[in-house]
Amino acid sequence: MESPLLPKYLLIVILFSHYSTTIAQYGQERDTLYALKHTFNDPFLNDNWNGLHCYENTSFWYGIQCINGRITSILLENRGLSGNPSAVSLVVLSELVTLSFKNNLVHGNIMDFCYNHKLKEIDLSENMLEGPIPPCSINLELLRSLQLQQNHLSGMIPEFNQAGLTVFNVSYNNISGPIPGTTTLRSFTADSYANNGPNMCDPLCHFSEINTPTPTESKKESIAIAFMVLEIIGLVTVILLLVLYCKRSSKFKNLIKRRHFEETSDGDGMKLVFMADDGGFELNKLMGAAAEGLGKGVCGDSYKATLNDGVAVVVKQLRGLKPLMSKEEFMKMVRMIADQKHPNLLPLMAYWCSEDVKLLVYRYAKNGNLFNRLHGGRGSRERISFKWSSRLTVARSVARALEHLHLNSNPSQCTVPHGNLKSTNILLDDDGETVLVSDYGLASSMALPVAAQHMVSYKSPEYQTWKRVSRKSDVWSYGCLLLELLTRRVSVHSAPPGISGVDLCKWVKRAFREEWIAEVFDMEISMEKNGTKGMEKLLEIALRCCDESPEKRPEMADIAAEIDAIEAVEADHGADLSAVQSLTEEGFSMHASSAIVDSSDGIS
Ligand SMILES: *[C@@H]1O[C@H](CO)[C@@H](O)[C@H](O)[C@H]1NC(C)=O
Ligand SMILES: *[C@@H]1O[C@H](CO)[C@@H](O)[C@H](O)[C@H]1NC(C)=O
Ligand SMILES: *[C@@H]1O[C@H](CO)[C@@H](O)[C@H](O)[C@H]1NC(C)=O
Repeated sequence: MESPLLPKYLLIVILFSHYSTTIAQYGQERDTLYALKHTFNDPFLNDNWNGLHCYENTSFWYGIQCINGRITSILLENRGLSGNPSAVSLVVLSELVTLSFKNNLVHGNIMDFCYNHKLKEIDLSENMLEGPIPPCSINLELLRSLQLQQNHLSGMIPEFNQAGLTVFNVSYNNISGPIPGTTTLRSFTADSYANNGPNMCDPLCHFSEINTPTPTESKKESIAIAFMVLEIIGLVTVILLLVLYCKRSSKFKNLIKRRHFEETSDGDGMKLVFMADDGGFELNKLMGAAAEGLGKGVCGDSYKATLNDGVAVVVKQLRGLKPLMSKEEFMKMVRMIADQKHPNLLPLMAYWCSEDVKLLVYRYAKNGNLFNRLHGGRGSRERISFKWSSRLTVARSVARALEHLHLNSNPSQCTVPHGNLKSTNILLDDDGETVLVSDYGLASSMALPVAAQHMVSYKSPEYQTWKRVSRKSDVWSYGCLLLELLTRRVSVHSAPPGISGVDLCKWVKRAFREEWIAEVFDMEISMEKNGTKGMEKLLEIALRCCDESPEKRPEMADIAAEIDAIEAVEADHGADLSAVQSLTEEGFSMHASSAIVDSSDGIS
């Protein structure tokens, strides 16, 4: 699943995803810095300019400052840097405000900084730069300070006339006069021009005649002033309205208060919080880990992060949460998820919560998800058949996990205990526990439009008719899942994007009516004759779960007991391998088979 678009580092994706910085921009800016580093080839920078720039650890990337993930300042003064940076294009650094290589040994043509429209301060003094000052630098409207003294610059001074340009020095170069007689350039003393080439200052500085501002220009100026006055009036009006609004809306006030609180009181905001005490790792380490996109899910995007020691985790960046979800609500949700401890539930390892970014960290299940196990490698020779006993293990494990969730969630909450049960959310692990249900506990925190559009429970008949979901919606999802297990057809309600499915409940019910029910079973299992009874029993349970009316559907606890009974029948007939063992083997070899959907999309 390698693709050139996959993010290389988690940090880039997560930390900056809420800024305007795109991954491409970040990458281009980083390339520029690496090109500079290569040019200077300075031992200190070679060592120090490492890892991710624009990250909070300021002991890296000496001299680089950022705002919102974009480089705003390059300040490399008095470091004896040599090299010719003119070949390094600064054009991508569109947020650059300060550029200084003051007092180094930089040589070659002066670099072209004309495209860096936000530049305010340029200091390239005391180097060995050559060539003319870029003529287009007269267009840098925000320029306040330009210091180019003590270089080997030649050519003539461009017609700088920016009103804000107050610091200017081109002395000790080889620049030719006369000096353009603009208002701005005339405002500087001879000190700024001294010791240059012919016709500059010998001994008095020569200014060439430049047209003074024409009447039309002063007219333009007065229009500009008129607009400014209008703008100020507009601004005052907006502020007044805002004050009025704040007074009236206490909600708005609370929001501002809360923001303030979070910004000022959050001392350990950059710490990952682990659910268990067993060691863990630093957020730094996680953020620097090689990352691989696992897919966009209902509740957010998931990434697989491989830490230095080879341990892989899944990081889920939550999206689509309820608007204005407070830190307290988020913590409540995290606690609820963490409190669910069951061998068939994927445990939450850690979380991270800041105002902008909320992350959940889970173990990475090596053997992918049930969807891939069922549908992957279809028709290919590498497909390893998914035995009846293994499917029964899945059915039983999921039933137990759901039973646990239903029995252990607070009945006073009108929430759906799982809400998004589907085959991509059932993970197959490699260490004996085998079947892990993921993505639980998030449904209640999702914004309703997001949930209604994507979550499986919200596709149940009762949501379609009464706009209501309950535990019985989970039972319905479970029924669909059983039918998917038995028929190996993709269920329309839980099909991943881009894959079409069948309304399995309707399809199987029709088969019942039209008496071709024997044909609904997947060929891979219908050949296992000693399992026929069990399969029929499971099908019957599935159809009861799929009942249109929620009240008629069984409880998860009863279902779990009935499925346990099926297993007992199996054992009487003497299955040669334990279900768990064969599932593990199959899961393992699944890697070779071509999967339809990325293997751990399940967590998404
Ligand atoms: C920054 O990184 C250096 C080197 O790894 C480390 O020693 C230092 O503690 C880090 N500082 C912070 C604030 O994380
Ligand atoms: C200064 O510039 C002139 C041309 O403008 C050139 O002939 C001369 O060699 C330059 N002097 C130095 C020291 O670079
Ligand atoms: C310009 O730079 C020269 C050489 O560093 C210095 O002597 C002079 O005082 C500076 N002039 C101004 C106006 O900054």
